[in-house]
Amino acid sequence: MNVLLTGGLGYIGSHTCVELLNAGHRAVIVDNLCNAYGSVLDYIEQITGIRPRFYEADAQDRAAMERIFSENEIDAVIHFAGLKAVGESCRIPLAYYRNNLDSTLTLLETMEKYGCKRLVFSSSATVYGPDNPVPYNEEMPCHVATNPYGWTKAMIEQIIRDYVTANPDFSAVLLRYFNPVGAHESGLIGDDPNGIPNNLMPYIARVAGGQLEKLTVFGNDYDTPDGTCLRDYLHVVDLAKGHICALDYAAVHTGAEAINLGTGNGVSVLELLHTFIRVNGVDVPYVIGGRRDGDLARCYANAEKAERVLHWKTEKTVEDMCRDSWNFIVKHTK
Ligand code: NAD
Ligand code: WQD
Repeated sequence: MNVLLTGGLGYIGSHTCVELLNAGHRAVIVDNLCNAYGSVLDYIEQITGIRPRFYEADAQDRAAMERIFSENEIDAVIHFAGLKAVGESCRIPLAYYRNNLDSTLTLLETMEKYGCKRLVFSSSATVYGPDNPVPYNEEMPCHVATNPYGWTKAMIEQIIRDYVTANPDFSAVLLRYFNPVGAHESGLIGDDPNGIPNNLMPYIARVAGGQLEKLTVFGNDYDTPDGTCLRDYLHVVDLAKGHICALDYAAVHTGAEAINLGTGNGVSVLELLHTFIRVNGVDVPYVIGGRRDGDLARCYANAEKAERVLHWKTEKTVEDMCRDSWNFIVKHTK
């Protein structure tokens, strides 16, 4: 299959590109490099021996998207391109709505024009909002996001559903990721956020590497076994493989289908931290601080649908996630 990856040089896109190429598919990437480096293309080539065709362009740019579709026979698209920082989305909501919605609309219009009918979309567990009980399943109502970023995901899911209703021969898989962490075992690609990381795993890794002084654990007074929040961390390589299963599914089914990609387990902040320290033999100084606004005590998946429908489940452990995240930092900061 010839697959277009929008945002394919980013964290999840680059790992998915590697798994796609390993599975014998071809990949075309469009990325505007607003949150990625061109060098990731070299790393993908180093890992797989194949250099995917790359277009440096904005997915909102209709002419650029048409050029990509006219120059390549695209069988399916995985739509990763988007802005993803929750806090930033509260400060500059219009930029988030513009980028995330416009890129999706332009993509769907271009797919329609070129007769491409298979889409896998990067949605998020954030669409479950604050009111649903864990574990989240795909039948739950998703009507209340808690921040502009989350709203863009909920809105895009709706846009895609409406499009599929009007075009019943179209196939869309809305993958709701939980908390992707870890890195490719080569240490060449991984999560490399600009500035101070917002997310827990890259923050821990930078404290371990000495670039940041200490971790603040945001609250230990939640109603959870150790008082810190529970999240469903999954290895990015497992997540990447889930996209190949979703593409296979989209090839034989029509309609719009939301599917969770998670392990089904809740892991606390302190468990993740202590596992990182233990498996890597490093020191990670930390303090307990106050709660972070908007954090939920618990967020984890019911992962049954992915296993039933996609024949996918996670294979890697929390230890693997911690080891590979650290390996990426060690190799990357040399
Ligand atoms: P990322 O920022 O590493 O990757 C996104 C890529 O898209 C970047 O390379 C960026 O340069 C590119 N991009 C952004 N807007 C673009 C545009 N208009 N045109 C072309 N390229 C554009 O993020 P990621 O962690 O790899 O996330 C990929 C997708 O998965 C995003 O849609 C994100 O919202 C979603 N998601 C991520 C997480 C997570 O925790 N990382 C969780 C759930 C969902
Ligand atoms: C995990 C836990 C924090 C940093 C976010 C988005 C979500 C999705 C994934 C895209 C929480 C605690 C964190 C720190 C800490 N992204 N923490 N100290 O908030 O579950 O999810 O990323 O769709 O939409 O909201 O992930 O990694 O930020 O936090 O104690 O310095 O770590 O309080 O309990 P989160 P996270």
